[in-house]
Amino acid sequence: MKKKLLRGRVLDFVAEPQSVEDSSAYRYFEDGAVLLSKGRIVASGDWGDVSAQVPEGCAVADHRPHLILPGLIDPHIHFVQMQVVASYAANLLEWLNTYTFVEEQKFADPEHGARIAGAFFDTLIRHGTTCAAAYCSVHPASAEAFFAQAEKRNMAVIGGKCMMDRNCPEALRDTPQRGYDETKALIEKWHGRGRANYAITPRFAITSSPEQMEMVGALAAEFPDVYVQTHLSENSDEIAFTMELYPEHTDYLEVYEHCGLLGHKSLFGHAIHLSEREIGAMAETGSVAVSCPTSNLFLGSGLFDHDRLNKAGVAIGVATDIGGGTSFSMFKTLEEFYKIQQLNGQRFDPLMSFYRMTLGNARALSLSEKIGTLGEGTEADIVVLDASATPEMALKYQTVSSLSEELFLLQTLGDDRAVVETYVAGEALKSGLT
Ligand code: GUN
Ligand code: ZN
Repeated sequence: MKKKLLRGRVLDFVAEPQSVEDSSAYRYFEDGAVLLSKGRIVASGDWGDVSAQVPEGCAVADHRPHLILPGLIDPHIHFVQMQVVASYAANLLEWLNTYTFVEEQKFADPEHGARIAGAFFDTLIRHGTTCAAAYCSVHPASAEAFFAQAEKRNMAVIGGKCMMDRNCPEALRDTPQRGYDETKALIEKWHGRGRANYAITPRFAITSSPEQMEMVGALAAEFPDVYVQTHLSENSDEIAFTMELYPEHTDYLEVYEHCGLLGHKSLFGHAIHLSEREIGAMAETGSVAVSCPTSNLFLGSGLFDHDRLNKAGVAIGVATDIGGGTSFSMFKTLEEFYKIQQLNGQRFDPLMSFYRMTLGNARALSLSEKIGTLGEGTEADIVVLDASATPEMALKYQTVSSLSEELFLLQTLGDDRAVVETYVAGEALKSGLT
């Protein structure tokens, strides 16, 4: 594969920003370049320096005056809920029972799974998202469809079939043994194949019996390199029901802890209503709290306390949670995250936002050696962003006088229209979509 040179304003993060003035947290090149070869970034930096390394006649994609950033990362999303988005419900449990558990039954049909998985990845690409950690349905065929469609696009993904054996419709139940066997077969087929990683996916404590939780723990012990993803402390009724189902445990997290499910490859969606003990245990084990702001507002679940968890040393991700969430856009997601921190009386600055969408989420997924920056040798997942993409953005852009103001404009007014191009493993995929 020939080398390819991208030209534009290049931005990536090297550390978590400590304030909106913290220019040591990022690299920015006003006339910058990123050199790609064989799906990887060979060099990035000033146009003059990078272009000097390139043979005459190298293809150049001139993206000036747009921004070139690492691809956006979504660490919690349900691909099987594309048609659940915008379902009118009072709260989480009503939403699950009335819409979500009904919709997910359609994934018993592999053709339906393949069609939605294709639409899912095209939608991510349109929104500049190049990596996602996703829940499939209980049906192994849905996970097959998910990984096959990701592989077709050479996308870095984490995914897994839900394990659930109670408190849901019969048609969505596996059993402890079947959930174990199906998950094991999927791990053996997909984990580490190309850019795919598997996540053992007990949906949440309510839909797994203690026997199933034991099997989940057995899988996690057998495959320590595999991820675990589940939901934690999203809604007060959910927490109360969990404690009824698991009365021997002192809190929600302990249900998972008891089975050995905590660790730096364990992704806990929502994590809103946590005790000091739970926060301490998460920090100690490197477990990841994945906040889902549009979902938490839409379902009225609560306000994720960024500073409390961050100061306690808990690893944090921020995600869309389609279809409880209401947008595929990581800009809209961080826009709502910003508003939640406003309600918490906290400042959440635009540098921190773009850090979270890129390197922060890559770190949350233990993937920052591979993605999340434009560093040499990393995989070439890249987005090109236009902060003047719509007439109202262009008008506001006339007042912008700093990089952080431009990022804040992108976050507040931007959506998929601000994504000019999405490169996945070095290939420009957005412009190829119909
Ligand atoms: N808890 C268990 N399942 C789900 C789900 O599908 N979405 C959300 N938001 N919370 C859950
Ligand atoms: Zn979820």
